[in-house]
Amino acid sequence: MHGRVRAMVMRALGEPDRLELSELPDPQPGPEQISIDVEAIGCNFADILICRGAYQLKPALPFSPGSEVAGRVRALGAGVRGFSPGQRVAAQLGYGGYATIAVADARRVQPLPEGMAPADAAALGIAYQTAYLALADRARIAPGETLLVQAAAGGVGLAAVQIGRALGARVIAGAGSDDKLALCVQHGANEGVNTRAEGWDERVRALTSGRGADVIYESVGGDVLERSLKCIAWGGRLLVIGFSSGEIPSVRLSRIMLKHISVVGLNLGGYHEHQPEQLAEAMQRLFALYADGLRPLIHARYPLSEAPHALAALAGRQTAGKLILEP
Ligand SMILES: NC(=O)c1ccc[n+]([C@@H]2O[C@H](COP(=O)([O-])OP(=O)(O)OC[C@H]3O[C@@H](n4cnc5c(N)ncnc54)[C@H](OP(=O)(O)O)[C@@H]3O)[C@@H](O)[C@H]2O)c1
Repeated sequence: MHGRVRAMVMRALGEPDRLELSELPDPQPGPEQISIDVEAIGCNFADILICRGAYQLKPALPFSPGSEVAGRVRALGAGVRGFSPGQRVAAQLGYGGYATIAVADARRVQPLPEGMAPADAAALGIAYQTAYLALADRARIAPGETLLVQAAAGGVGLAAVQIGRALGARVIAGAGSDDKLALCVQHGANEGVNTRAEGWDERVRALTSGRGADVIYESVGGDVLERSLKCIAWGGRLLVIGFSSGEIPSVRLSRIMLKHISVVGLNLGGYHEHQPEQLAEAMQRLFALYADGLRPLIHARYPLSEAPHALAALAGRQTAGKLILEP
């Protein structure tokens, strides 16, 4: 099946406002790959970083960003079993998702449960996989433990609020405005602290009778991470998720030693390579939570051509939950 694909393309590295709508020959799936007619695309902070050339993955120019899509199977590459054209699926990719047709490795494609809308399926990918694997697999959070989620109204943040509650934790949301905190409480947080206000770390200690949080889910870096270490409990686990502030701090190891802290990293992309079964299991667990009523918050939907506006809002801290592009 041949045609033309419309894609948002970076021709030189820089801010995502350089993304241009272009027409290209449609991509063909290689061995063990699937091409997908895209119906919804999830936006991620990493899409901004990849456009700037500041992400660990550095594709050759020109390229399309975009690492999660939902749609229908268009064509199967050699060796792919268990999928058929027209089937409804979601997929995670390194890049190339800001397009009407995307190509993904078959092992990163999931058949969708009956009735799941494409926008929900795209939104439930990276953010919810990250939150679930961080809390359940990496931190092994236990019911009754206190979880502090930073940038809690954001994509991976709100996912951690919802999943933390589903796993039985008491959730304290940290976010940069009172409106964002109210939204986190609506989605299950027990309390909130405004991380743009002075002394928010003291407030976390006060909320935990001086103990601090057992698990801190940290995607901001910089000063937020530094202060998080002041309100982590004895024996706490610091989940290192990302650095949206742009600052990767150096931590004094004496603090880690004295407070008996475990620093726990998570690299979602690495699960595909090293622990694919665990990732598949996480997705099944997320589908089960969806069947029980968990829904991703979709902040806004934009046409594909408005990707630069969507990413400007994400970079400008103006969004909550997930942004979706629709071709
Ligand atoms: N480790 C992994 O495998 C993995 C997987 C997925 C995502 N991530 C990382 O997780 C982070 C969040 O991704 P996301 O897509 O869900 O984005 P997001 O959290 O929806 O957006 C970023 C949020 O970070 C906060 N922030 C604080 N300082 C900021 C600054 N200087 N500039 C921009 N934002 C700032 C803002 O929330 P407030 O206004 O509330 O402060 C903002 O809304 C990213 O760093 C991403 O790379 C990592």
